[in-house]
Amino acid sequence: MLAKPDFQAHRSRLQGALREGEAVLLFGGPHHLRNGDAEYRYRPDSDVYWLTGWPDPHVAVFVTRDAITMFVEPKDREREVWTGFRPGPDGAKAHYGADEAFEWGEIEEKLTGLLSGIDTLHHAFAVDAEHDALLMSCIAKARRKNRRDGLSVPETFCSLDKLVHELRLIKGPDELEVMREAGRVSAEAHVAAMRVAAAGMPEYRVEAELLRVFHEQGSTGPGYTSIVAGGANATVLHYITNRNTLKDGELLLIDAGCEISHYTADITRTFPIGGRFTPAQRAMYDVVLKAQLKAIDTCRAGKTFNDVHDVAVRVLTEGMVKLGLLVGDVDELIADESYKKYYMHGTSHWLGLDVHDVGAYGRDGQVRVLAPDMVLTVEPGLYVAIDDADAPEAYRGIGIRIEDDVRVTDGDPEILTAGVPKHPDDLADLLASPQS
Ligand code: GLY
Ligand code: MN
Ligand code: MN
Repeated sequence: MLAKPDFQAHRSRLQGALREGEAVLLFGGPHHLRNGDAEYRYRPDSDVYWLTGWPDPHVAVFVTRDAITMFVEPKDREREVWTGFRPGPDGAKAHYGADEAFEWGEIEEKLTGLLSGIDTLHHAFAVDAEHDALLMSCIAKARRKNRRDGLSVPETFCSLDKLVHELRLIKGPDELEVMREAGRVSAEAHVAAMRVAAAGMPEYRVEAELLRVFHEQGSTGPGYTSIVAGGANATVLHYITNRNTLKDGELLLIDAGCEISHYTADITRTFPIGGRFTPAQRAMYDVVLKAQLKAIDTCRAGKTFNDVHDVAVRVLTEGMVKLGLLVGDVDELIADESYKKYYMHGTSHWLGLDVHDVGAYGRDGQVRVLAPDMVLTVEPGLYVAIDDADAPEAYRGIGIRIEDDVRVTDGDPEILTAGVPKHPDDLADLLASPQS
């Protein structure tokens, strides 16, 4: 049995943080057709899902400290024949934590009433113009009513970052269990992909192996489009075409992770097709691995988010000088950002329901201090463009990234994705025993 999020615990955290007169309004995203009459599989809005577990589109959730009201698609026998079961308002109350629930068509009238007596509203403004227009219309009506009954209407507006996303940043025990599961299944998929990858094979065959393991293990799907990048494709940070042919002696970079109950993992490994690093590949790999291990060790309560990046940048820049990619004094190369030629992205991002999860990286002008149960990635890399005439020839066209998912604790960092090897000896052992 896969672990499940405890949505009731999330509701208690949010409602416990609201005061009288304060409310949160969430909208789920619409459903989009892919092309023609073909449908995308609907992926719930992360905030709505975090709070309710509601899986379907066209939903709004209004939360005060005392009550949760949901607006959902009605039961509709004819539509259900085509697109499946709808819980409807009764289902919202029975299974998704709503105290009150109404059909979507009633939202304008009911929301106007709910806004009376509210002075502060949390809402994701400027994300969906229709939702903003609906809310403004309700506020205008509530204001007219308020002239008669004297109840407050929202005059203070906050983005979801202020409260909801701060809560999502600190993972509860239930969420950590689900994320461990996502890390375990994703690691298993990477190991399977390493075993199957071989010269002459198209990158998409390796992607198919990742997806096989994700789906066989009950994942809700990949958390983002998998990157399967052979050779110089690995120097393209968001390469997702995955249609080239793997060649012996080249490196293969795989960046892939699956969702369990919509919480995602995010793992990158880079390894040699054929099992043996060239000396240049190994020299670059060792630099990236050293940077990653040191940055992971920096993921400790009391350190800042930027400390993790700074540690990685220093080790990588020292390595670039040793490798002959950069010439000069390490401090100066960091200060003038010369290192960005070969390391141009950040080292970390928050991880959770979104692969680049919510939560501010700084507050009140200060960089975020890491605290227990924050989960972040650590993903340093080195990328040398194939046509970089300044780089020693042996490094041209090599891209390496190593990425794990790390939970901050009161003590040592917990690595959620430790099930897939990254030390060269362990990689060699695994690659020496390809798929039987
Ligand atoms: N897979 C996306 C990232 O690593 O940020
Ligand atoms: Mn990442
Ligand atoms: Mn990644």
